Amino acid sequence: MDKFIINGGKRLSGSVEISGAKNAVLPIMAAALLADGKSVLNHVPDLRDTQTMLRLLNMIGAETEFREKSLTIDASKVNSFEAPYELVKTMRASFYVMGPLLARFGEARVSLPGGCAWGPRPVDYHLKGFEKLGAEVILEDGYIIARAKKLKGANIHFEIPSVGATGNIVMAAVLAEGITHITNAAQEPHIVQLCEVLNEMGADIEGVGTHELSIHGVDSLTPVEVKIIPDMIEAGTFLMAGATLGNITLKNVSPNHLSIVLQKLEQAGCAIHARDDTISIERGDQIEGVDMMTDVYPGFPTDLQAQWLALMSVATGSSIITDTIYHDRFSHVPELIRLGANISMENNVAVVRGVDKLRGAQVMSTDIRASASLVIAALMAEGRSIISRVYHIDRGYEKIEEKFKSLGADIRRETD
Ligand code: UD1
Repeated sequence: MDKFIINGGKRLSGSVEISGAKNAVLPIMAAALLADGKSVLNHVPDLRDTQTMLRLLNMIGAETEFREKSLTIDASKVNSFEAPYELVKTMRASFYVMGPLLARFGEARVSLPGGCAWGPRPVDYHLKGFEKLGAEVILEDGYIIARAKKLKGANIHFEIPSVGATGNIVMAAVLAEGITHITNAAQEPHIVQLCEVLNEMGADIEGVGTHELSIHGVDSLTPVEVKIIPDMIEAGTFLMAGATLGNITLKNVSPNHLSIVLQKLEQAGCAIHARDDTISIERGDQIEGVDMMTDVYPGFPTDLQAQWLALMSVATGSSIITDTIYHDRFSHVPELIRLGANISMENNVAVVRGVDKLRGAQVMSTDIRASASLVIAALMAEGRSIISRVYHIDRGYEKIEEKFKSLGADIRRETD
């Protein structure tokens, strides 16, 4: 198992290229299953999660080729409709194949995802949505089996604007007979791109980018060529590191996807310059404690909560950080405390009292974003840190240690 050795306190400078978005590429890879033919995805990040989705697509009969950020998916020979437990347990986003398989082939058998590092994370909205579209949905031996000769348009309301359920139901509804109305749909940039890609494939989705989607079913879709949007969470992670450690510029980034994050960083005392597809950040002389509450887009993303907590741990004064999306998503807190942070928890609220310095220690990664917060904290800390189980970070960050090294950080990967 790989680990990172980090000697903290080094100033960062220079520029870094942001990769394509993990949370955009995964559903779009699944969407390629909807068309009989070869789709091409460009600017695809080489992540453990993309590799897992590739393995899954290959298992169900798609032919794929992934070379230099360009991924070709030929879905003309799909001949199996099953996503096995071994893959789904390592990546919940495997569940995204359910909508496309059900829509195009009338059948899908996908392992029910288990809990995850931050709580139960149910898929009930996905399943109720498929049922509303006319599918028979049963649970058998830990697998969800959904069948429908032809899906039929329906009115579907999500209690919470779930990213995964919106993506899955949209991918099923594009080939349904009639119109599907989704209310309280997610409007995260990756869901917007998924809808845009589906429309390019021949789907008819209205209201893209809003909470209300109207999907007029069509008979078939055609393959597509697409450039994956920049990863706003990777970008946000580098910004949090730059906030105390240097003057850095991010390239290939969408500043408007990060509006609230940039506002919070400015409030904390950083100077930000954003234009077109670059963002520069100049470290603040003093980082002020700034409260933060996660929310659905355009609110502060839960996927940057851990990294914000790391930054706030060295701020002047206190801050209150609330995760309203995932109440248990705080496994990084005990590890940050090992590095010297002063954080107390009450349910889904963290109270952070800023300390002058963090100090290097041995810590453990528990999930993708928690690991990213440990990297930021270790880069800020005085002395040496060892972060174990970095396979979590490899799920969602492309060569993070090389990118930080190119900015001047002292970080290296060691394999046991
Ligand atoms: C996606 C992201 C993840 C991010 C999350 C929230 C991907 C691959 N993953 O996860 O990185 O942290 O959005 O922005 O894009 N819920 C239910 N029932 C359901 C579905 C969701 O109760 O059927 C609840 C969840 O428990 C959670 C909330 O809805 O409280 C939001 O979850 P959701 O948006 O679905 O997250 P994911 O799509 O799993």
